[in-house]
Amino acid sequence: MIDPFGRRISYLRVSVTDRCDLRCVYCMAEDMSFLPKAEVLSLEELERLCGAFVRKGVRKIRLTGGEPLVRRGVMGLVGGLGALVKAGALDEVTLTTNGTQLAKHAEGLAAAGMRRINVSLDTLDAGTFTGITRWGRLEQVLDGIMAAKTAGLAVKVNMVAMKGVNEHQFDRMVEWCGGHGFDLCLIETMPLGEIRADRTDQYLPLSQVRAGLERRWTLADNDYRTGGPARYVTVAETGRRIGFITPMTHNFCESCNRVRVTCTGTLFMCLGHEDAVDLRTPMRASEGDHLLDAAIDAAIARKPQGHDFVIGRGLAPAVSRHMSVTGG
Ligand code: GTP
Ligand code: 5AD
Ligand code: SF4
Repeated sequence: MIDPFGRRISYLRVSVTDRCDLRCVYCMAEDMSFLPKAEVLSLEELERLCGAFVRKGVRKIRLTGGEPLVRRGVMGLVGGLGALVKAGALDEVTLTTNGTQLAKHAEGLAAAGMRRINVSLDTLDAGTFTGITRWGRLEQVLDGIMAAKTAGLAVKVNMVAMKGVNEHQFDRMVEWCGGHGFDLCLIETMPLGEIRADRTDQYLPLSQVRAGLERRWTLADNDYRTGGPARYVTVAETGRRIGFITPMTHNFCESCNRVRVTCTGTLFMCLGHEDAVDLRTPMRASEGDHLLDAAIDAAIARKPQGHDFVIGRGLAPAVSRHMSVTGG
């Protein structure tokens, strides 16, 4: 699959549920209304959809949510996709999770063929954690992360940088991740969905964060790539990497390789646009995949050049859907 700007689409992000057991302040409003179950694709349908993308050249699938591990039966889907990895049809199946259910599932994920996972963790301070997630318990997530480590999964910690919230915790996070052998990925907050707070107050450009880190750590640019948007440095003192995801200050759209499908079978060609294509109808219209395949081709031909996110006082979010619809 090649889009109109010559970019090869090889990475599919699949949101298996819009539900989540937390309500991170930058991701969701407190009073979210979730999709009725009847709207949501079955796990068999999600697997069929993934299969269609794999036949078209997707090599990496990441399950997201909401929180993917709150979807009942999701381990069956992980197993099905893991079998594609074992058969060489996919390079990687992986997951972005908030970690609350990881203690239960880490071994199963590893057994299914998953090698690494990304876990959202914005702070190591229990009070700040509960403030960000609205009711989450830090200990539960830390237990989950340790279970993942024990199961042999490589862990990357995702930390959204927020002024006045976790801005004094970067050094501690680098130290903690380094000590446990985890990579850390810092993320600039993006304007998706109305969250009843002005994101301007919390927005922190990562150039500033990096300058702060360089006072304590020796950072060397690194050409390590995962197929995601992060650009990495190595921390000499810990030997681990820090990734920087900078949609606001340094747009990485020119090398975009991904599209995202929601749990209702809606394909978003770009995180920063409203444009979407319904894949559920063509998939359900026929037992064969010719209608689905044609709908995917038509969607890829519509992939926009990139997002134009701006955060400013009083500005409406760039797109109205919440981050939790596509899981990033
Ligand atoms: P790796 O496979 O480890 O590189 O993961 P990833 O960075 O692709 O996935 P993850 O789910 O950990 O996402 C980290 C952050 O990157 C989230 O905040 C996503 O919203 C953001 N992100 C991923 N892809 C895109 C993209 O195409 N555009 C923008 N603006 N942000 C993205
Ligand atoms: N801006 C940037 N990152 C976000 N995430 C959720 N909402 C936002 C936002 N508004 C992050 C989560 C998770 C990843 C998938 O996206 O922290 O780690
Ligand atoms: Fe849930 Fe993740 Fe959104 Fe937090 S960022 S509310 S954990 S989906």
